[in-house]
Amino acid sequence: MSELIFIEDLPGGRHRPGPDERRQVDCRAAARSVPEVGRGKRFLIKTYGCQMNEHDSEIMAGMLREMGYRPAGSVDEADLILFNTCAVRENAEDKVFGEIGRLKPLKRRHPELLLGLCGCMAQEEKVRHFVRDTFPYVDLVFGTHNLHLLPELVVQAMASQETVFAVWDRPGQVVENLPKLRKEGVKAWVNIQYGCNKYCTYCIVPFTRGRERSRLPEDVVAEVEQLAAEGFKEVTLLGQNVNDYGLDLGTVDFADLLRRVAKVGGIQRVRFTTSNPWNFTDKLIDAVASEEAICEHVHLPVQSGNNRILKRMNRGYTREAYLELVERIRAKIPGVSLTTDIIVGFPGESEEDFQDTLDLVREVKFDNAFTFLYSRRPGTAAARMKDETPPEEKKDRLRRLNELQAAISREYHEKLVGKAVEVLVEGESKTNPDVLAGRTRTNRLVLFRGPRTLIGRLTPVRIVEAQTWLLWGEPVSLMREVSG
Ligand code: SAH
Ligand code: F3S
Repeated sequence: MSELIFIEDLPGGRHRPGPDERRQVDCRAAARSVPEVGRGKRFLIKTYGCQMNEHDSEIMAGMLREMGYRPAGSVDEADLILFNTCAVRENAEDKVFGEIGRLKPLKRRHPELLLGLCGCMAQEEKVRHFVRDTFPYVDLVFGTHNLHLLPELVVQAMASQETVFAVWDRPGQVVENLPKLRKEGVKAWVNIQYGCNKYCTYCIVPFTRGRERSRLPEDVVAEVEQLAAEGFKEVTLLGQNVNDYGLDLGTVDFADLLRRVAKVGGIQRVRFTTSNPWNFTDKLIDAVASEEAICEHVHLPVQSGNNRILKRMNRGYTREAYLELVERIRAKIPGVSLTTDIIVGFPGESEEDFQDTLDLVREVKFDNAFTFLYSRRPGTAAARMKDETPPEEKKDRLRRLNELQAAISREYHEKLVGKAVEVLVEGESKTNPDVLAGRTRTNRLVLFRGPRTLIGRLTPVRIVEAQTWLLWGEPVSLMREVSG
């Protein structure tokens, strides 16, 4: 087993980038420089975590395609298996370790099978050491800043008996011309910004994804134009903290970028995630309100309804400021849907503090909420805070919060019964090929029976049945009234 090999030790003499260095690397060219190694071979990527990771997996799949690899249907068929991991919560990490452990017999039977671990877990030193000591049969480990080196790392791993590690501790490049293997032809994710500077005290993302870097607006627009030319109808602009887009460029802000993307012909819907409440400007609200293509849906993580906890989380806003922002958004964007993230059981959260969260959820009436039990992440500021609430109590709080949110979500859905909504049809439903699935502008999932020719089209659908997390509908030929 080798020591960690940092990137400057890799062939090609690359160096770890300096903090102010802003270079662009052409990844397609890198992948094409080693085209033969994947010929006749198959790859499988297992993805955990957020949309950013899903999109990184598309990029890696694209590079592997350029190298001649084809996708594998199962673990047994694969010559290369990559775990693109999430470090946000501990249980996601445990799942990955369990899966890698279960692959040991397969790796013993097929020693030429390459196993790789990448994504946010690879950025954690503790994880790298654990992999080195516990899973020596893992062939390559690379971080979130090294995605574009995948082709040369694969070649290295094929030649090496030892685990190849390549993890930059900080980013330096905005990488362009990444080949991507996108899953379907209707909607696509587009990175606009990497990293996060906010250092919420519970969150590991600033450590695993580095400081905020924005892509140039012309590169983002060019990618969206390319997607439109390929027939994509919807794009979601991705960043950990999209409101900060452009701060590092100094010439453009997120509202400007949104307007430019919204004007790309052929793109019918534009979404974005995630916005931090603390710098959601009126200019941004106006952009969402006035550009037809921008969907009236804002994901606005609140995390807690209690000011003391918000402060301990280092969120940078108060409950009052959040509620005032919600009011401003609702006043200017009619029919807007609001979703949120909430953490339950943050260190020091009392039952009273939690009641403030329930109270805020009742007051705002979110369309939906992603709720999480606090998970201690070593190295973060919150990991050093006293956490005395028993796990059972935290679970009970989560249960109560989920019950409340489910009732609110269901109420919204029930109000839609009998109404016609505009659905972008994405494909067949996951569970039944006779049923089509799509989403409203407000991101509600709608299932209905209809011809496959509707896939990729905006279609009016009348809602006939409401469930808590989805709607059932039937196509209508003439849309008289369209809502949420
Ligand atoms: N800016 C990103 C944050 C990524 S993490 C975004 O908003 O998409 C996504 C969510 O996971 C956060 O909003 C938070 O609610 C939750 N989360 C992050 N760290 C967590 C932790 N240590 N324990 C529990 N939930 C956490
Ligand atoms: Fe994490 Fe807070 Fe950034 S939740 S990703 S540190 S905005």
